[in-house]
Amino acid sequence: WLQSFLTQVLSEPEPAAAAGGAPVTILWGSQTGNAEGLAKKTAKALNKAGFTAESIDMAAYDHARLPSEERLLIITSTYGDGEAPDNAQALHEYLGGDQAPKLDKVNFAILALGDTDYPDFCQTGIDFEQFLTAAGAKPLMARVDCDVDFDDLYAQWRKDILAMFGASNAAVEVNVAETGPEPFGKKNPFPSPILKNYNLNGEGSAKETNHIELSLEGSDYDYQAGDALGVFPVNPAEVVDEIIKSLPFDTNDEVPFPDGSEGSLRDALMYHYDIRKITKAFVTKWQARSGSPMLRAIVESGSKEAMDDFCWGRELVDLVVDHPADFADGEEFVGILKKLAPRLYSISSSPNAHPGEVHLTIGIVRYDSNYRSRGGVCSTFFADRAEGVQPGCFVHHNKAFRLPEDKSTDIIMVGPGTGIAPFRAFLEERQVSEATGRNWLFFGDQHAATDYLYQEQIEQFQKDGVLNQLDLAFSRDQADKIYVQTRMLEKGAELWAWLDGGASFYVCGDASRMAKDVDAALHTIAQEHGGLSADEAIAFIKDLRKAKRYNRDVY
Ligand code: 2AM
Repeated sequence: WLQSFLTQVLSEPEPAAAAGGAPVTILWGSQTGNAEGLAKKTAKALNKAGFTAESIDMAAYDHARLPSEERLLIITSTYGDGEAPDNAQALHEYLGGDQAPKLDKVNFAILALGDTDYPDFCQTGIDFEQFLTAAGAKPLMARVDCDVDFDDLYAQWRKDILAMFGASNAAVEVNVAETGPEPFGKKNPFPSPILKNYNLNGEGSAKETNHIELSLEGSDYDYQAGDALGVFPVNPAEVVDEIIKSLPFDTNDEVPFPDGSEGSLRDALMYHYDIRKITKAFVTKWQARSGSPMLRAIVESGSKEAMDDFCWGRELVDLVVDHPADFADGEEFVGILKKLAPRLYSISSSPNAHPGEVHLTIGIVRYDSNYRSRGGVCSTFFADRAEGVQPGCFVHHNKAFRLPEDKSTDIIMVGPGTGIAPFRAFLEERQVSEATGRNWLFFGDQHAATDYLYQEQIEQFQKDGVLNQLDLAFSRDQADKIYVQTRMLEKGAELWAWLDGGASFYVCGDASRMAKDVDAALHTIAQEHGGLSADEAIAFIKDLRKAKRYNRDVY
């Protein structure tokens, strides 16, 4: 009896007999793995509900299939300044180009991931919608654009897709609910003791970069070199107290938290809500409750420039203090705030070199604006407010940024500034795993004397024979700027020889300038030293990406 009871309880629900129709193709474009994860979950949910669904890496997708996709789902992120993820670039270019096929049989829906902190929010999702529509494809439903906190919108999107395809009500609901005791993860972050936390930069540096060691003992977390760690920061108490002091209602009442529980307004603003970002949508909501003539003028002018100008360098506290607004109570007030989102950092340790630990290398962001000193929520948390706190953490697997499986493959790493993080992890891993492939690092920062991060360890890697080549670019130690790409170009012939011999190339750090310039340098090297034409160089680098030999972790 017990056996049959368990079988009954544990077995998956039978696929709905009615579910069917054309197979569903889910194409994902993903830089850090979020879109990839959602695509796979979506395929699983659809298959469980009786449909035939497949999730496919855009880079591995055969374009020729496009015209016959009757049900096409696209899940794609956007990064940097509205750019398509690396694995989406070829398809993006193809569909946006003049070779795009006619797609009048195609029906599609798009889930776009993005970050409202960056310009051109969800641009890649918008682009795909335009390309598909221009080619005659029909939208199955409106595009959904998600901010960094995408879980709820994704759950609703997936429900809508299932319902639209005619899944049974049970399948629509059941598939969204998660079951079982919750392990540590993004939804249930592990409170991680901080073992070490210190500034790597020397005195007099313009930079502040903390090395942080966290304990993962008891978390059951598993990570690899190349993965990222999500961290839930704590907001600054003095800002929270200033906000509370200036609010026009009784601030002693309990307020709801985003996770459904309740607590004090102070806890809400310290741990649960974002008090930093203000956006056009938020200012517009705020203005409707405020008598501020300045806000009214900005909103009514409709000028994007005036709005951007106002939002830059201002936070919730500036609105509360300088442009008071009316709220009946705390519940109404937190109702217009966004959930405090975790920040993702590239892990700078190999788990095999530091069992039970995870290390981070975080650039501390500080600036002055509108008469206040401010900073990045999570970076200043580590620099100023982390003592005695165990921040909630989770591992974010970054499958697009892995060491070559073949340990004899050579690798070239370009990581200026905090871009060094994953490469410290890579070098540790290559050492511990006794990989035989050669390792070449390009590192740079402002000044050698104060900003040479992990100098001792890097020099030890050289002595140990793990780091075979090292090129340093200290940009402000001489009159002319020397950058990592300057060094790449100087060593062009050798770099080409490594690539030609099968080396994998990695870039980590600033997306908007550095990674673009490094990409351009790579193209130049392929032409100058590989004897390729401009078009051949483009094709060569495209093939590198396709072969997963050109990997970027850029932000
Ligand atoms: P800079 O600040 O002197 O311009 C890490 O921040 C290093 O990256 C610094 O030395 C910084 O130099 C450099 N950097 C700035 N812009 C860059 C770019 N476009 N390409 C490469 N490195 C850059």
